[in-house]
Amino acid sequence: VSLPETGPPLIGVLGGGQLGRMLALAGIPMGLRFRFLEPGQDSPVRGVGEVVRARWDDPDALRRFCDGLDVVTYEFENVPVGVVGQISEWGRVSPPSRALAAAQDRLSEKELFRRLGVQTAPFLPVGTRDELVEAVRTLDFPSVLKTRQMGYDGKGQRFLRGHEDVASAWEALGDHPLMLEGFIAFERELSVIGVRGQDGTVAFYPVSVNEHREGILRTTRAPSPGVSPQRQDEAERIAASLLHELDYVGVLAVELFDTADGLLANEMAPRVHNSGHWTQDGAVTSQFENHLRAVLGLPLGSVAPRGWSAMVNLIGSLPDQRAILAVPGCHLHLYDKEPRAGRKLGHVNVVADTPEALKERLERLLAIVEGEAESLVPQAAQASQSP
Ligand SMILES: Nc1ncnc2c1ncn2[C@@H]1O[C@H](COP(=O)(O)OP(=O)(O)O)[C@@H](O)[C@H]1O
Ligand SMILES: [Mg+2]
Repeated sequence: VSLPETGPPLIGVLGGGQLGRMLALAGIPMGLRFRFLEPGQDSPVRGVGEVVRARWDDPDALRRFCDGLDVVTYEFENVPVGVVGQISEWGRVSPPSRALAAAQDRLSEKELFRRLGVQTAPFLPVGTRDELVEAVRTLDFPSVLKTRQMGYDGKGQRFLRGHEDVASAWEALGDHPLMLEGFIAFERELSVIGVRGQDGTVAFYPVSVNEHREGILRTTRAPSPGVSPQRQDEAERIAASLLHELDYVGVLAVELFDTADGLLANEMAPRVHNSGHWTQDGAVTSQFENHLRAVLGLPLGSVAPRGWSAMVNLIGSLPDQRAILAVPGCHLHLYDKEPRAGRKLGHVNVVADTPEALKERLERLLAIVEGEAESLVPQAAQASQSP
């Protein structure tokens, strides 16, 4: 990074969600300033930087956004690749737009994994109804039909248990480019978060164990006593091959399925990731700080864990904050978002000195968070269960 002749470094962030908020919260103590480009109103980044509120395809706003920035990064995965291309004509964008392009299309993402020798679920592209029928014949049931673009938190997916599900899945998703994946009966879901600096240095956080419900991440544990050094190595090899192949700079997350036959890569995120939020309180350097260090060409910080950590997402409604803070080792992170069903509103990190102490604290925390979730969603739950 150039020496601040004209004041502290100004980081441009495409997107203004909670990931942008937490990047700023990590960077402000380092003397960094932030400017966000965000089309939505009332975003979680108001209060942590300047916000240019505009559509992605507004050229004047884009020029205003870029004026005086030291580097541009993104926190939202579905920024149009053309916008990133345009910005890179004016200045540095990290991670590279190639990584963004690959991650925006599940098919090209899985083809990239395959090209690098990384195992994945079997998959086939689906463009027409006939191709779906053909793909189902090849991959069989159970399988998962996914939109190639714009999916997140399990949105844009249908599980196919048998022939009876095919028509309704096509009905729901057939307007989009699709792919069919064989269903993987994984033992558990893991993710690895890696970071690569401008000089090519790489570092990997301890692999985390992730629990999803209804397609949304609920809890992460890291480090996990159940993750063997072999699995850690395997995960790091997968992430390293992607980082090198993409000439990547910044934080990259890879979601993995752990199976008896080894790790399969499910998807990657060319940005800081929900399964890395535990690093805010449970690692020497958080994923947010390391992402900023990387994109600014600064030395990376240690990725070593501090104790044993878990992260619990707060989804749809906020539980009793006083009760949460009364659990030892708990830290509350709220995103300044309006409660809405299925929406990530914040998370709690919990840290302990031993796996046993963590287990006990996590159980107490989950009892508070899930007790609340049940008491606040009964109508929706009952409605969907009633015949
Ligand atoms: N091929 C598959 N086999 C089994 N489960 C899957 C498969 N694909 C997705 N899932 C489940 O659905 C979740 C969300 O799918 P994912 O591909 O990660 O999309 P998203 O972008 O919504 O996170 C995964 O974390 C996993 O629990
Ligand atoms: Mg996912």
